[in-house]
Parts: sequence; C-alpha cells; structure tokens
Amino acid sequence: MSVTTFPDSLLSAGLVRIQREVDTAFDMLLPVPDDSRSRLVEAMRYAAIGGGKRVRPLLLVSTAELYGVDRDAAVRAACAVEAIHVYSLIHDDLPCMDDDDLRHGKATVHKEFDEATAVLAGDSLHALAFEILADTATSSDPFTRAELIATLATASGKDGMAGGQMMDMASEAQDYDLHTITRLQQLKTGALLAASVEMGAVLGRVPHEGRSHLRAYARDIGLAFQIADDLLDTEGDEEKAGKALRKDEEQGKQTFVTLMGVDGARDQAHALVEQAIGHLTQYGAEAELLRAIARYIVERDR
Ligand code: IPE
Ligand code: IPE
Ligand code: MG
Ligand code: MG
Ligand code: MG
Repeated sequence: MSVTTFPDSLLSAGLVRIQREVDTAFDMLLPVPDDSRSRLVEAMRYAAIGGGKRVRPLLLVSTAELYGVDRDAAVRAACAVEAIHVYSLIHDDLPCMDDDDLRHGKATVHKEFDEATAVLAGDSLHALAFEILADTATSSDPFTRAELIATLATASGKDGMAGGQMMDMASEAQDYDLHTITRLQQLKTGALLAASVEMGAVLGRVPHEGRSHLRAYARDIGLAFQIADDLLDTEGDEEKAGKALRKDEEQGKQTFVTLMGVDGARDQAHALVEQAIGHLTQYGAEAELLRAIARYIVERDR
C-alpha cells in the first residue's frame, strides 16, 4: 500500500512495518478450514488482510514501545483492536447501515460474498479479537489479559463503537447540537482509537493513574480522526479513499462539517491535534511517532 504521499519518514516506516506485521498475523490466525466454514474464513481474510491504514495498530504498538513491551505481544493486541475495527466496517457497509459497495478500493464483503456471510464474518472477527487477548501468547499475566479484554470490550459495545453507530443512525432523523455530535464521534470512532493507546499502556503495566496524559492525547486525536473522516467525505477523492464519498450529506448524517462548515471543522481538527501533542510533553524523542500519528490523522487523504 502506498504511503508515499506523506513525507514524514518515521511515520511512513512505522505504517509500512505495522501493515506488514498485521497482515502476517491475520494470515496466521485465519487458516481456511477444509469444510463448509471455508467461505466464512475466506470472507474474514478478504476483509482483514490488506487494505486498511492500520492506524489503531500503529497507535497501540507505538504506545507499547514507550514502555519497552515485547513487539510480538503488542502486535497481537494490535490485531485484536484491528479485528474489531474491520468487523465494524463490514457491518457499517451493510445495506441496513450505510449500504456501501466499495471499501479499500474493492467490493465490500456483502457484495463480494453475500449479506449473511458478511454478518457472520463480522461476528467472527468480533470474537477473534477476544480470543487473541485471552491467549497467554498476548500476555502471561492474567490480570493484564483481563484488563486488555475489559478495555476493548467497553470500547466496542454500547459505551463505545456500537453505541456511537446507533447515535449516528439516529442522527438522520433528529437534530444534534455540538455536544451531542462530539459524544457521537467519541463513541463511534474515538473509543477504539483511545482503547488502542490504553491497551499499549496496559501491556506496559502503566498503572491506571499514570495513564491520564495518554488518555487525554487519545481523546483529542479520536475526535480529530472522525472530523478528518467527515471532511474527506465532503471534499476527498474517492479514488484515493477507496470508498464511496459524499455519503453523509446524501444520508442526512450530522457531522462536525454540517454543524461547523468545512473551514470550522478543519480548524477544530488542527486545534485538537496541537492539543493532543501538548499532552506528550513529558516524553522526548521516544514519543515522536505518536506526535507524527496525530499530525497524519488530519493530513491524510485516505
Ligand atoms: C474508517 O476508519 C471508519 C471510521 C471509524 C472513521 P479508518 O479510516 O481507520 O479505516 P481504514 O481501516 O484505514 O480503511
Ligand atoms: C463508521 O463511520 C465508523 C465505524 C464505527 C465503522 P463512517 O460510516 O463514517 O465510516 P466510513 O466513512 O464508511 O469509512
Ligand atoms: Mg457509518
Ligand atoms: Mg460508512
Ligand atoms: Mg465516513
């Protein structure tokens, strides 16, 4: 996948490395069985291998690296977050949700396979995330495994991604104020990004009270990330994005862009990135990748 459009070599190298690691890990985690489940696993592989930017995995491994966490363990936890993300995209694209035909420059899972297979592939990726985290290969410490599982579960369900998706669906029928839109975005997108950072710190055995600056960083980039997604939907290039754009307006979705306009939303995203970077002042060069990810989140074109 091309990341050449972004000049920051630290970031490009980080993205290329994690993309390769996540692809390899999913390939190993998803052998195709020699029975009638093969179509299900083929669909999971189709969605999970290749395509995504892997921003959440990069956040997780970059945070874990600050605390000297073993790379293989961090990549496993990163795959768990990415499995939830990929499942959320499969379901988000279904006809009953956004009804999209294109994702990562290719047919969506329900188009390439069928709707029932897409639902089950999403379900199975959801389960896979927790299978990975419950495995001793992720951490030999049961408390660490339990905290990883709890963090990802909370970020995925009604108090996280799925809850945000529900608010997003409801936004087609009612007017939201800025506070409600912020809440929606924090749940729909912010929660999984924040969980990625948090899980890196959990693997690093950082105590809860020692993570507040990382949580503040994650909250700001989470919001900035969805604002950037909404800006891309309004003014991005479909070819580069690899997905259908101009969908939010077509579906009457409310976003930061509908509320603040393109310029207001862009200013807000940039302000959030600066604020996010401001939460990392206690670190030196070792947090340069986290700073680069924050900038990339609003400057990306896909
Ligand atoms: C897209 O997320 C959906 C949102 C939560 C905004 P990404 O932009 O991280 O998707 P991929 O995986 O890189 O395509
Ligand atoms: C989806 O948001 C967020 C998820 C939790 C999957 P969008 O519907 O805006 O994501 P895209 O634009 O289809 O990637
Ligand atoms: Mg959606
Ligand atoms: Mg969508
Ligand atoms: Mg979008």
